[in-house]
Amino acid sequence: MIKAAPSILSGDFSRMGAETARMEKAGADMIHCDVMDGVFVPNLTFGHKMIADIRKCAVLPLDVHLMIVKPERYLDKYIQSGADRLAFHVEATDSAKENLVSIKNSGIKAGIAICPETPIDALFPLLDYADFVIVMGVHPGFSGQKYIPETTDKIKTLRAEIVRRGLAVEIEMDGGANEDNVAMIADAGADIIVSGSCAFNSPTPEKVIATFQGRTRGR
Ligand code: DX5
Ligand code: ZN
Repeated sequence: MIKAAPSILSGDFSRMGAETARMEKAGADMIHCDVMDGVFVPNLTFGHKMIADIRKCAVLPLDVHLMIVKPERYLDKYIQSGADRLAFHVEATDSAKENLVSIKNSGIKAGIAICPETPIDALFPLLDYADFVIVMGVHPGFSGQKYIPETTDKIKTLRAEIVRRGLAVEIEMDGGANEDNVAMIADAGADIIVSGSCAFNSPTPEKVIATFQGRTRGR
């Protein structure tokens, strides 16, 4: 079963508690939280206080996706805020390995995210230290963009490398997923699929989430 991770980036920011509850009721597996600094990406969202506040009302794990430069400055804050899974971008730091180790040592899951233009093998030396990889299906910054087709091959290549090395790293695909392309993304080897606009803009998010969860990961 594919895990569905609705992204509250597509929710109403004045009602984050209610939006989180809406996705939990719709059957989500985790809540994806997009942190943007206006420098790494051309958009600003929220910081660690929002994560702490959502943590107070959320039941599900919080999957925090940092789109900020030099994430090492703030990892402790997000860990303390109650993130269950914490990912930063390989393009945003010179200390990717150290960051993964310090996230893992804190007892939560450590993730590394990769932009569409970065070759997937840039992550291979880091796979021994990561619990999960976020493969971006769009240029990070905004929800509602179109899935970049080359992402599928990146997921396949990454899955093959994980299998070859016998690792337990999860693949999470973030950006541009919808009910029409979710089968292809799952078949390529994703374990978790983020759904921003697709889940939040639907009058029946439970159906969208069930469609995602109805797929099985390819090998
Ligand atoms: C984009 C974010 C995504 C975004 C996905 O920078 O990382 O999580 O919310 O939204 P959709 O699913 O609409 O592309
Ligand atoms: Zn994201």
